[in-house]
Amino acid sequence: MNIIVMKPEQIRKYVGDRFQAQLKEIPHSVLGMTTGSSPLKFGIYDEFIKRGQAGNMDFSEAAIVNPDELLGIPQDHPETYRTYMKEHLFNDINVNPLNTHIPDSDPENPEDECKKFDELIDKLGGVDLQLMGLGENGHIAFMEPKEAIPASTYVVDLEEQNRPAADAFADGLEVPKQAITVGLRYVMKARAIIVVAIGASKASIVKEAFTGPVTTKVPATFLQLHPNVTIILDEESAKELPEELYQVL
Ligand code: GLP
Repeated sequence: MNIIVMKPEQIRKYVGDRFQAQLKEIPHSVLGMTTGSSPLKFGIYDEFIKRGQAGNMDFSEAAIVNPDELLGIPQDHPETYRTYMKEHLFNDINVNPLNTHIPDSDPENPEDECKKFDELIDKLGGVDLQLMGLGENGHIAFMEPKEAIPASTYVVDLEEQNRPAADAFADGLEVPKQAITVGLRYVMKARAIIVVAIGASKASIVKEAFTGPVTTKVPATFLQLHPNVTIILDEESAKELPEELYQVL
């Protein structure tokens, strides 16, 4: 694990440089994205868009995958991750929409959808570079803490604090209580991973995730076993870590 502490305003450049280098080396890369607040708050997708428009990032041959999606709402609902990705990234870069892959939020048979997603990832040859957030309860993608976590993609019951806010569902639909998420195999097989975990609210889970014992009760601890992970922190989220564990940019 390579842990780097930087100022929040440095994140977009660091992540932009990594993804740009990946695309330059392998134009048909499989890029893994994430939802959550960090990519927006720190301007990561905005950076991809700017670099794309300036001709420095070419997504035309790339595939983009997202590892999770809420379950039980129509695909075009404003709260789906598909809608989030379209609004914040896909619509403004030159990726072929046919090469963007997110589990279906409203499949006829969720178990079949999970299987289909695993087959797709296998067919793509796995993810080359995955951007990831860190949930305050230690979830990555949407693998919630449990006694055991599947290796393959599965339907997960979401913890209450991780469900979308009820006011987004004033349209009469029920707030999703489940999601489809990749399992541990997807994460362990990704060739490189960048995790962004910023702010004081992440300090205690950062310590647990990256220095604690590996356990499915803190899914992010599995990242300790991965051969190519970069963790991006700021001063606040790093404050419980021993200084010798990280470098400061
Ligand atoms: C959602 C996503 C996760 C992400 C998490 C935290 O729950 N499904 O993949 O890790 O948000 O992200 P953030 O702290 O950036 O909001």
